[in-house]
Amino acid sequence: MELDALIEQTQTAFARRYGRAPKWMAAAPGRVNLIGEHTDYNDGYVFPMALERYTMAAAAPRSDEVFHCESEEQKEPVEVRLNQRFQPLPRGSWGNYPLGVVAGFRERALPVPGMDVLVHSSVPLGGGLSSSAALEVAIATLLEAACGVPLDPVEKALLCQRAEHAYAGMPCGIMDQFIAVLAQRDHALLLDCRSRSYEQVPMRDPGVSVLIINTQVKHALTGSEYPTRRRQCESAAAALGVPALRDVTPAQLTLARDRLDPVVYRRARHVVGEIERTLQAAEAMRQGDWERAGQLMYASHASLRDDYEVSCRELDVVVEAARAIGVEGGVFGCRMTGGGFGGCAVALVRTEAVPAVQARLEAEYQRQTGIRPALFVTRPGRGAWVIRG
Ligand code: GLA
Repeated sequence: MELDALIEQTQTAFARRYGRAPKWMAAAPGRVNLIGEHTDYNDGYVFPMALERYTMAAAAPRSDEVFHCESEEQKEPVEVRLNQRFQPLPRGSWGNYPLGVVAGFRERALPVPGMDVLVHSSVPLGGGLSSSAALEVAIATLLEAACGVPLDPVEKALLCQRAEHAYAGMPCGIMDQFIAVLAQRDHALLLDCRSRSYEQVPMRDPGVSVLIINTQVKHALTGSEYPTRRRQCESAAAALGVPALRDVTPAQLTLARDRLDPVVYRRARHVVGEIERTLQAAEAMRQGDWERAGQLMYASHASLRDDYEVSCRELDVVVEAARAIGVEGGVFGCRMTGGGFGGCAVALVRTEAVPAVQARLEAEYQRQTGIRPALFVTRPGRGAWVIRG
């Protein structure tokens, strides 16, 4: 959906629900990670870009001290009194994202006024495209406008990450919130998750397109497996006597193999290899060497599937179908993206081949899984901004 249409829909829906126009409006993008998976919480590098899919947050003041938030995509409204203490909602409630952000503003003694909020999004929900970070960052940007206090971008991303940890109960890294805040149109972001320094890498070659393939499956494992992977990485770093797996080279890891539990060793091998691949892929993309970037994407997928064990059959089917089309057919590379266990794959495709590639991937995926995938092409979108306020 076009951005203008999404903004207009949000305004119309706001007026319908609340009987007045919004005073403040903000937006934040979903993201796709090109490469650098499960590296952020190991102090490594990630290479995401924003989607041209956004979450809108609109609000108007209320006369009392109530924060009331509804969503076009969710049934239950969320409401808290700002002059009282409040707690996270039960696990899995969407309202934990906005509430966690409100809590972050209050912890910083920023005076959130009473308001009616409406959220509306074109980011597919629960599809591994960071709809949750888009929601957090959209709300934080809205609150910046409403409080009249702009936050430092890095502090804003960290506030949103904290909301996800403390309210949604997901111990995520910093990638999703950082790209939602810092993205620039037509650029991917090479982020050093340790120093938090970053480079905006241009991605404006019209001959190459980013294709997202949504498997339309979400396996229930995600919740418990993510914290387990984090712990395994921490135990590998501890056994190797370093602060994080970022500090280990592939050669050092090989030497230490006997000292590590075999599963922990494979987890670490993914992370250490993936950090190198991410730097190499960013360099390949700077040079416009799409074939090299594509090979690194396939290697990333294999490592996530075999060593990190966060892929699933549906994602593997997409990646193998892409590989079968090959560079001759217009696909440079393909891999799962995000946390795993379902969600989306991302492919780099020669622009003129996009319709044919899309048709072939869709047919092959459906033939092998019986599920209809959702595919879309996106350019790198922009980071969060205030639309009104
Ligand atoms: C999720 C988390 C991110 C990151 C990815 C895996 O999206 O929110 O912080 O760890 O998984 O790369």
